[in-house]
Amino acid sequence: MSEDLLETLASHRLVPVVVLDDAGDAAGLAEALVAGGLPVAEVTFRTSAAAEAIAVIAKRGDVLVGAGTVLNVQQVDEAFEAGAQYIVSPGLSEAVVHRCQELGIPVLPGAVTATEITRALEMGLKTVKFFPAETSGGAAAIKALSAPFGGVKFVPTGGIGQKNIAEYLALECVSAIGGSWMVPKDMVRTQKFDEIAQLTRDAVALVRKD
Ligand code: 3PG
Repeated sequence: MSEDLLETLASHRLVPVVVLDDAGDAAGLAEALVAGGLPVAEVTFRTSAAAEAIAVIAKRGDVLVGAGTVLNVQQVDEAFEAGAQYIVSPGLSEAVVHRCQELGIPVLPGAVTATEITRALEMGLKTVKFFPAETSGGAAAIKALSAPFGGVKFVPTGGIGQKNIAEYLALECVSAIGGSWMVPKDMVRTQKFDEIAQLTRDAVALVRKD
């Protein structure tokens, strides 16, 4: 079941990384993403509004909502209870991965070195987040790593936007790309949902062109 969900995520090609200070903005944000043609959201646990925001978005039923910046088992549990469909971590925590596996929820841990990717494989994972992508060597590093790790899929995130997304899209081992450029924090805070919908539409168009 995990693999199916990751495939659906991959079919959208983009994962908007969302930081919500106020769960009251979650409904409008979800609507904007759907209007922009991208019914996907990774709501990060960088704010205390995350679990409530995930619950609001999950209730819609038409958005693939996950939890990001999950650093420990407690946050896995909170996210799962709130209705998150997948868990994303900046690094590789065995405790986080194990708990996700116990719960049967797909997990995308961060892995940017050969050693970290090996560990992810040993834990039964086939897809990892490559974070922070740009400062970890970017598309060139992913390409180099994909030679020894033929079956691994990468979800690069961190420093990716309209200017450099094409480099990542060109790699077959990249299943999806994460980023926050279509959901700027200040626009969320000021509820500029029409503008977010337009940025999302532009991002989707970029992906479709390739
Ligand atoms: C993440 O948590 O995945 C990143 O902060 C998103 O990176 P970006 O803001 O550079 O797109």
